[in-house]
This record gives sequence, structure tokens and C-alpha cells, in this order.
Amino acid sequence: MLSKSENEKLCRIGPGTVMGEVFRRFWNPVLMSSELLEPECEPVRVEMLGERLVAFRDSNGHIGVMEEMCMHRGASLALGRVEDGAIRCLYHGWKFAMDGSVLEMPNVSGKCVRSKLKATAYPAREAGGLIWIYMGPADKMPPFPDWAFMHLPLENLRVSRFDTEVNYMQQLEGGTDTSHVGILHTNDARPGWMSHTFSANEDLDNPASLASDDLAPVLELEQTEFGFRYASTRRIRGQETLRNVRIVPIAMPSTRVIPSPKLQFVIFEVPMNDMKTTTLGVSYDPEGGPIDAWKLDEIGGRHDPRLFDHATHRYIGTWENRFGQNRKEMAKSWSGIKGVVAEDQAIAVSQGPIVDRSKEHLVAADMALVRARKQLLESAERVRNGGDPIGVAADFRKVLACDRNIESGVEWKSLLPL
Ligand code: FES
Ligand SMILES: [Fe+2]
Repeated sequence: MLSKSENEKLCRIGPGTVMGEVFRRFWNPVLMSSELLEPECEPVRVEMLGERLVAFRDSNGHIGVMEEMCMHRGASLALGRVEDGAIRCLYHGWKFAMDGSVLEMPNVSGKCVRSKLKATAYPAREAGGLIWIYMGPADKMPPFPDWAFMHLPLENLRVSRFDTEVNYMQQLEGGTDTSHVGILHTNDARPGWMSHTFSANEDLDNPASLASDDLAPVLELEQTEFGFRYASTRRIRGQETLRNVRIVPIAMPSTRVIPSPKLQFVIFEVPMNDMKTTTLGVSYDPEGGPIDAWKLDEIGGRHDPRLFDHATHRYIGTWENRFGQNRKEMAKSWSGIKGVVAEDQAIAVSQGPIVDRSKEHLVAADMALVRARKQLLESAERVRNGGDPIGVAADFRKVLACDRNIESGVEWKSLLPL
């Protein structure tokens, strides 16, 4: 449980807020590279940490990200002309370089005004099929994050995005909460649940394929350089000598890696504004093998056009369409909703745009998400006092998850490093 003021501090991320300052101290992914497919393609309007931005790819293929509204009189630069190393506003032709410098002002004579102006622009990089930006102070810029998936061929990554109208913490907490996997995702996690039997889902790609139907996993946490990791241990029915352990890292500020028996799912919950979050994910086989993106979309329920708008990358489930829930199906489908991601989004939206954490009743199974809150709130205090947030210069290359069965009595930490 949090006080109302702690909840506000945790959830508000606009300019000038303490948590907004924490996020601004990291490189955050903002778009998929495929959204800016080729040089001079259509600029994309994006919202990030409460700011409206435009992202574009110039004639040379370089990415620019700057304030969307032209600094002259506020026309959207997303309508503008993309040029060599610059974007030009359609309205009066002001031309802005990638760093926000004003290169030309056709409706102004002389250079005097131009040299005094600079638009807000953010450093942008492209890696691992994602476009990343840094919105913090120049002198605090951390090293560019080095994730294991950035070292794999792009064709072996499944990169995805959807935006949901909820605060980022609901998405992060949903992803940090392991005890819901065996319950909300019963259809995938516990085949045979209707007959009270259990046979593990044999799909090695499915992150909800649990090796056990133990619904009350025991959690242990370990502080790390990047944030923390938790291990959830589940008893395995009929196999007293074995335990299943899932090790999940929660990296600052709002990233997790979820394992399936075979794959890694790196998921970034990036706040667009206080009540809207973009979820950018990269799934990959750590052995570097190919990946079946179509199948992963199907596992997530992402193919359902009532719930996911592929043109705009938005989750569009609402109470009006009841999040795609079919109650007649619930005799044989636990949730009545098809797909793991569709189930998660229905729950997140059902909690409202910002959940009131002063009213909750937490239990031991919530230990990991409580830690996720604490490390964010502690980071906010550190930044407020002139320090650095937790994990700001961490080595993300080693941030990996696993799902393994181990002998009872074997310490889960003996699996590290992964
Ligand atoms: S509004 Fe952009 S140049 Fe005038
Ligand atoms: Fe889930």
C-alpha cells in the first residue's frame, strides 16, 4: 500500500515531476525502427514523458526527434518536409537541424533572430530494431544501453509495440507480478484445469507455459546493479525432488525480461503521458535462432482486430467491447479472452487510468512489485538530492531471465550468471 502522495510521485512523469526526471536520466526506446522504414518517409508523431514529439528519418537515414510543434507558431512538424539532416516546417519554411538549430527562416531577413533560437531536440539512436532517445541533461547522459538482443541479426528478433491508456506502473506491475501467470493465464499455464489435472503446456515459446500448477510461488529477491531480480519457485506436482524456478530481472526504470522455456521477452514500459504507456518488446532466442513472430502474436492475442489496431499500434479493448471477453466460452476458457497479452491489457485497463494504491491489500506474492515501486521512489529521492537513479549506467547485456527445473535443495542463485 502507498499513501496517495507516494502514488502520485510514482505515477506522474510529465516535465518537472520527480519521476519524470528519473525517466529522463535513461535512454528509453520510443518507437520501432520499422515505423520509420526508409529515408524521408512520413514523420511519426510520438508522445513521450508528457511531451509531444516528432520523429523522422532524414535523406541519409539518420533519425531526428524533436518537439512536434514548430517553435514559430506551433504548426506540426509531422507535416513538414524532410530534408538532408533536417526537417522543414510547411507553414513558413523554418528549417531545423537534428539538434534543433534553426538553419533557415525564409520569412525573416537577416540572421540575427535565427542564431538566438534553438528548438527542443533530443539525441536519438537506433539499435536492436528500436529507436531510442535521451531526454535528460546533456552532462548526465549515461552510456548507451547494451542489451544482448542488440548483438543478434535483426531478422531473428521479434520487435513489437502497442499503446494502452493506462499509467506505466500498471503495466510494469502486471509484468512484475508472477502469481497471476498461473491464474489469469490459466488457459496457457495450466492445460487440464477444468478436470483438475495438470500437464505442462509443451509450447516452449509461450511465456505462460509453466512447468507447475503451484499457484502460490515463493519469491526471493536479489538487489543488482540494474535494479533487482526475483526468483519465483514453484513445487511440481508428483515430482517431490524437483522445483521450478523462474528468474526475472526488473531493470530500471521500467523494464523486465520474462522467460519462456526457450525465449527471452524484453519488455520496456515507456510512459507516453500519465495515463498512456507504450509497451515495446523484443523477443529472441538466446541461442540466436530464428523466431516465429506470427506465432508469438497469436499467443498474445495480438491478431484480434477488435483489441489491437495494427495501423496505430494501439490496444483498443474497452468496456464497450468488453475487452473481447466471451462469457459463454468461460466454461472452457478461464478468462473468456483469447491470448496472454489481451488478458493482461484487459486487467490493466479495468484498474482505471491510475490505480489508487492507498486502497490495496498486498500479500507476499506481491513482494516483487513492491520492490519495483521502492527502487523507483528511492531513485526519485536520489535525483531530487542531486544524485543518480539506481541502475543508470548498468551493464544491461547480462540482464537475462530463465525458467528451469532444479533439484530441491539446490540454491536458485547457483544458476547465476545466466
Ligand atoms: S509555424 Fe512553422 S514556420 Fe511558421
Ligand atoms: Fe500477464
